[in-house]
Amino acid sequence: MNAANELVLIRPDDWHVHLRDGDLLRAVADHTARVFARAIVMPNLKPPVTTVAAARAYRERILAAVDPALGFTPLMTAYLTDDIDPDEIARGHAEGVFTAAKLYPANATTNSAAGVTDIRRLDRVLERMQSIDMPLLVHGEVVDHTVDVFDREAVFIERVLAPTLARFPALRVVFEHITTRQAVEFVTAAGPNVGATITPHHLEINRNAMFEGGIRPHFYCLPLAKREAHRLALRRAATSGNPKFFLGTDSAPHRVADKESACGCAGIWNAPVAIESYARVFDEEGALDRLEGFASIHGPRFYGLPVNATRVRLVREPLAVPERYTFDAGEIVPFHAGRTLGWRYAGAVD
Ligand code: NCD
Ligand code: ZN
Repeated sequence: MNAANELVLIRPDDWHVHLRDGDLLRAVADHTARVFARAIVMPNLKPPVTTVAAARAYRERILAAVDPALGFTPLMTAYLTDDIDPDEIARGHAEGVFTAAKLYPANATTNSAAGVTDIRRLDRVLERMQSIDMPLLVHGEVVDHTVDVFDREAVFIERVLAPTLARFPALRVVFEHITTRQAVEFVTAAGPNVGATITPHHLEINRNAMFEGGIRPHFYCLPLAKREAHRLALRRAATSGNPKFFLGTDSAPHRVADKESACGCAGIWNAPVAIESYARVFDEEGALDRLEGFASIHGPRFYGLPVNATRVRLVREPLAVPERYTFDAGEIVPFHAGRTLGWRYAGAVD
């Protein structure tokens, strides 16, 4: 097979994933672990992961759910609340349990009701995190109902992120699942302590996808997909080779019944097709040689971790994506359901 039809990469990591819990965790975990060596696991369970003990226990449940042969390491995060104890966060980091802490503005997204009502309430926590160089992972949307839902990320930069970084200039921040040109510009201009994850779906769809011929709940996620110009800005950032931008799928499974509802949940389950979808985007952009940086190198460098020691292979072959997956936990519709992609993950290289 010639080089253009096959791609060998350092094994990638996923720097933003929702693995859920219970039977849903058992259903989805291997879809992430089949490809990714490590993943930053989001803490928005019910109840949220706010203590070191809860994160340790959740990590054990993840490890019990994953096929051990896949060699997967979950990296845990703390869910920040208004009254979270800075000592608990710092202790979790020192003990190797909390890799990072996640800021959810209260009520911004799925299971964020216990999130932060005003970032100023985190001053002591952020000061501590800055001093121990512990990454702050940010869901960057304001929840102000007078702000249009499509503008909430851009307004968050002005009202929250820029002022916070002005007060904590050395804080290591990952602006998660960015969706706008403004976020790309902000991260590009910021210091080396500020990075961003980009999802496969925000590289592939614009906001039209939610309304194509009718309402399409499986393309509903938060932050919402934006206009085409924003998608193009994200594609340029992801494929630019800039080490500030790296892979984070935001794979966020919900059962079909919870998506196809009068009040459907936000979240796209892309784990079964994530690396294939990124490969397609990089291929379309003529940047396959930059996929390894985005998927496997920039993330660990940002987090101060070694890159993975093994390699994986992708091949240019048709991949038919099922309409839905049926698990004991229920049915889940994957991203790209019913479509055929042009790249397929072909496992580890010996
Ligand atoms: C996520 C979820 O379902 O937990 N949903 C989503 O649309 N991305 C939460 C989040 O990351 O906002
Ligand atoms: Zn998420």
